[in-house]
Amino acid sequence: MNNTIQVGLLGLGTVGTGVVRLIEGHQEDLKSKIGANIHIKKILVKDINKDRSIEIDQDKFTENALDVIEDPDIDIVVEVMGGIEETKAYMIEALRRGKHIVTANKDLMALHGAEILHEANVNQSDVMYEASVAGGIPILRSISEGFSSDRITKMMGIINGTTNYILSKMSEEGADFEDVLHEAQQLGYAEADPTSDVGGFDAAYKIAILGTLGFHMTIAMEDVLVEGITNVSKEDIAYGKKLGYDIKLLAIAERKEDQVYLSVQPTMIKNTHPLASVGGVFNAIYVHGEAVGETMFYGPGAGELPTATSVVADVVSVAKNIKLNVNGRTSSMPYKEKKMMDEQDVMSKNFLLLHVQDKAGVLAKITEIFAACHVSIESVLQQPVEDHDFVELVMITHEASKSNFKQVLGQLEALDVVQQIRSMYRVEA
Ligand code: NAP
Ligand code: HSE
Repeated sequence: MNNTIQVGLLGLGTVGTGVVRLIEGHQEDLKSKIGANIHIKKILVKDINKDRSIEIDQDKFTENALDVIEDPDIDIVVEVMGGIEETKAYMIEALRRGKHIVTANKDLMALHGAEILHEANVNQSDVMYEASVAGGIPILRSISEGFSSDRITKMMGIINGTTNYILSKMSEEGADFEDVLHEAQQLGYAEADPTSDVGGFDAAYKIAILGTLGFHMTIAMEDVLVEGITNVSKEDIAYGKKLGYDIKLLAIAERKEDQVYLSVQPTMIKNTHPLASVGGVFNAIYVHGEAVGETMFYGPGAGELPTATSVVADVVSVAKNIKLNVNGRTSSMPYKEKKMMDEQDVMSKNFLLLHVQDKAGVLAKITEIFAACHVSIESVLQQPVEDHDFVELVMITHEASKSNFKQVLGQLEALDVVQQIRSMYRVEA
């Protein structure tokens, strides 16, 4: 039996460096868990002359991906280089050559996961991707194994650390989005190009992966409603606070019977909800199962060692499968037909901030629209605005269907006394 499992690394950046540190530093423990040594044989990088923060035998480096993928001795390819098309081609080729894959790449798994898992199935190989969602939190394993006896009805999470950092800072300091983003970029918390994070796409990739695993159907990116945080203002946050809510970028996947709905949106969440207390770059995922009820997972969503912990845990799983000769038999392929929920069935409370004329009968006209659209109002707050000819009207609705609430918005837009629909948020109580 093979007593050394050979690993080829694609990438030695933040995560790759952590992977090397853990594999090198935890050799004895890993050996006793797997019953074999783990050895890193080759490492693909862009620039072999770059200074590295760890000492690695220079012979291991290559700038040619084929040196890893085509090496017959390599059992597991650990993909921590990022990227989509080129990386996908490497993964497919590695699978065709009988290798197993561990990846941290959420973009790739959200966009091409179905094809990659199919290729793995055909080749009886393992593909594991725990680190692709919520870095150091073992959420994929929990969903596919821990909840295997239950039916998940809802997953709701803060799964992007950058936006949580920005929203937490805006809330703590009463600061503007642009200022906090700039500061976060200078501190290295936000990328130079923050589009994927602040636009909600990073969280959408992750919720598509969670939805696919949790609901056993292939969720594509176009199935997820995506709205980022660029329009969240300090005024909205202040209004939320006044009413007992925090604003968080929540990724939500919910299921009713066989139908699902997925979204990433800045959401007002009651400040007593456990997710509201998740601050800074931390991630948390709330999972509701029919049998288990409410559960929550909390931890670091990124970073060298937290993310490497998940990657190396996957390496251990694959290595154990190699030892037992059961690769390709443990992955959970989607087996249900995808059915998206009708907007009439998507229920939520809503927050609305309107700029309206300050004269007799305005409130009556507005509430008439809500009544006609069967949307019940839970609370109303009206506030004058100094030196302006309008007042701010804040309304929170009871649970209403998305289609009914859209009708309200359409009719409010057409109402002469409404100057502007300033902002609106889904509300989670
Ligand atoms: P990174 O620091 O930018 O490192 C990327 C590594 O891949 C570098 O070593 C780079 O080589 C190499 N590389 C990139 N493109 C290459 C190419 N075309 N050919 C050869 N080598 C190439 O990235 P990272 O932050 O470690 O992230 C890696 C993956 O993990 C991404 O998919 C990311 O989404 C995911 N992830 C990251 C985190 C996190 O906390 N950073 C958390 C969860 C998931 P050089 O070193 O020579 O430049
Ligand atoms: N950009 C991600 C975040 C990190 O801010 O959470 C890794 O997924």
